[in-house]
Amino acid sequence: MKHTLLSNGLRIAYRSDGVAGGLPLVLLHGFCEDSAVWNDFIVPIKSLHIIRVDLPGFGGSDLPLVPGMDVYADAVCAVLNDLSVEKCVLVGHSMGGYAALEFAEKYPERLSGLGLFHSHPFEDTAERKDARRRGIEMLQSGKRDLYVAQLFPGLFAGAFAKANPPIIAAQIAKGKRQSAEAIIAALEGMITRKDHRETLRNAACPVLFLLGTEDSIIPPEQGLQAAVLPDLADVHLLPGVGHMGMFEATERCAEIVRRFWEFCANR
Ligand code: MLT
Repeated sequence: MKHTLLSNGLRIAYRSDGVAGGLPLVLLHGFCEDSAVWNDFIVPIKSLHIIRVDLPGFGGSDLPLVPGMDVYADAVCAVLNDLSVEKCVLVGHSMGGYAALEFAEKYPERLSGLGLFHSHPFEDTAERKDARRRGIEMLQSGKRDLYVAQLFPGLFAGAFAKANPPIIAAQIAKGKRQSAEAIIAALEGMITRKDHRETLRNAACPVLFLLGTEDSIIPPEQGLQAAVLPDLADVHLLPGVGHMGMFEATERCAEIVRRFWEFCANR
């Protein structure tokens, strides 16, 4: 694990694997996770230079002073600067995709490709904001473990969850290691995040959409609506997959991301 600092002194933890030199693939984790969520996913694509960031508050990174997707985007920028990387292909899972969109708006010149892995550019609905506020109350009343235990089973497609209880148990155990403060900050950041449809319309790089037909968090219809926005989109709708393709269809998702990276690297 390596570390760098934001301009306000916050420590950002990240992993850099593979041989540096080519175009790096940067992976951002989702809500209640950290960079270790990609451990199995990167095995089939380990010939690439892969950078995985712990978003502020999660894993080994310090809690943001003010919640928001912009501090996540700044953390990615700080990591790229630390490694003297000018351009990358940035792929974000779910909340990581929201952060990647913020990065795309703030630092478009640093992107050769943008990937939304079970993610979309729309802001929260009023119902979603209310549900997140109820989550914040639960976390503030000391029920972090219960919150995390209730969260993860619903992220996977039903059939996969039934057949793979140890994978879900492992994600719950890891989620319980994230602090309640980091989870609250992430919820606040997601509530206040902006709509990024314009960011996609303006994207100068190719955009990957990886969607699951069984995803109850990011319904595929929403992803498909967004996929018509950029000039150049690579769209994959995975049958039977929920919100956690990196576990539910590891090799297939890794191959999709590898091919997208290759396309971006050779343009
Ligand atoms: C995630 O997996 O990052 C979150 O479920 C995204 C969300 O709640 O919108």
